[in-house]
Amino acid sequence: MAIETAPFPLAPGADAAKMQYFGRVVKDVHPGKLTPEQLEEIKTLLYQHDALLFPNVVVTPEEQYALTKAFDPNSESYGHGNNKTGETKKSILHPDLKTIPRVPQVQLIGNGTVYNHEGLAEAKLKHPHHKTFHADAISDEDEKAGFTRYYRWHIDAALYDLEPPKVTTLYGLKVPGGEAQTVRYDDGTGDELKVPLGTTAFVSGATMFDILPRELQSLAVRTKVRYAPHPYVWMAPARSNTTGLGLLTEQKELQTSELPEWSEDKIKTLPMLWKNPVTGRLHYQVHPSGAAALEIAPLPAGASRENALYPDGATIDDLGKVRELLYKMQRPGIAPPLVYAHDWKENDFVLFHNRGVLHTVVGAFTPDQVRAFHQCNLAASSTPEGPTEQDVLQYA
Ligand SMILES: [Fe+2]
Repeated sequence: MAIETAPFPLAPGADAAKMQYFGRVVKDVHPGKLTPEQLEEIKTLLYQHDALLFPNVVVTPEEQYALTKAFDPNSESYGHGNNKTGETKKSILHPDLKTIPRVPQVQLIGNGTVYNHEGLAEAKLKHPHHKTFHADAISDEDEKAGFTRYYRWHIDAALYDLEPPKVTTLYGLKVPGGEAQTVRYDDGTGDELKVPLGTTAFVSGATMFDILPRELQSLAVRTKVRYAPHPYVWMAPARSNTTGLGLLTEQKELQTSELPEWSEDKIKTLPMLWKNPVTGRLHYQVHPSGAAALEIAPLPAGASRENALYPDGATIDDLGKVRELLYKMQRPGIAPPLVYAHDWKENDFVLFHNRGVLHTVVGAFTPDQVRAFHQCNLAASSTPEGPTEQDVLQYA
């Protein structure tokens, strides 16, 4: 019997046409107790809709790990490696993650202090605040009035040595109530988005690609992104732009000689577009903060050169130019009508297609607002598929 689903609720101002496929609420099925047939159906639904919500379920860390692993049975370790985060305490991810001792692939994240939690006597959690990452921050006065920012748009991925996880699961155990906030883009556009407190915001990489003008689609289908070695250590001193979609270029990144030991063969060079295994759609999947260079292939034989960018191919390794181009290509995809901001309820279990969406932490909690989530993703057993030859011919 087919699993019953319902569309995600559309926010006021959402682009109904572009958002219609994004997200499904899964009814009357427990994500930890799926039959093999149900699991196959859930996989198809996930790749069609990019995010699934199982509301009001009690899920153990073991069940969460098992479901996450079911999407990639040969995967084993947490997406950034077990019990460590990007090799060193210098990584910007380090303070945000605590491991569940019994199931080290599952991380406890959140805000405030949690006691006697799954074998952790006491865990001090901190919801990341944009003032610790952005070059400038919303004033205290405006924050009190309810304004906030996206923290950092990203894909869950080490982007060095390990392959990007296929899916991420997020389970909301403790969700503090509170007033809605308004995300300000602060980039001169006046863009704003009203969001629930502590939302996780998602955008579709497929939509991000679909809405690009023809010449940028041609560029995307021909481009690979080279990431920095140990990117989260490399970028640690750098600061984000106001939308959380990439870094400012102020020469603050570490020199390669200052990084933990690294080797050329572990550097990740990934296609700009990742192919959806079920729908065949191309998803624009770039972690803008970690990107160091772009490798552009020439136009294929016979393609029109009219208005083409880099028709003969190029390597761009000027960081400012890399970021400028990525921002031009990605910023349209995070426009307010294209963002899904999840309104977390306790015992919400969300499964998302990490190779099909970008997501970000949002908002600010006070220290007494206690939030506890379990997060799991697993470094994949294979690298993302890029565009096919047919795709290149179609879009180049
Ligand atoms: Fe994430």
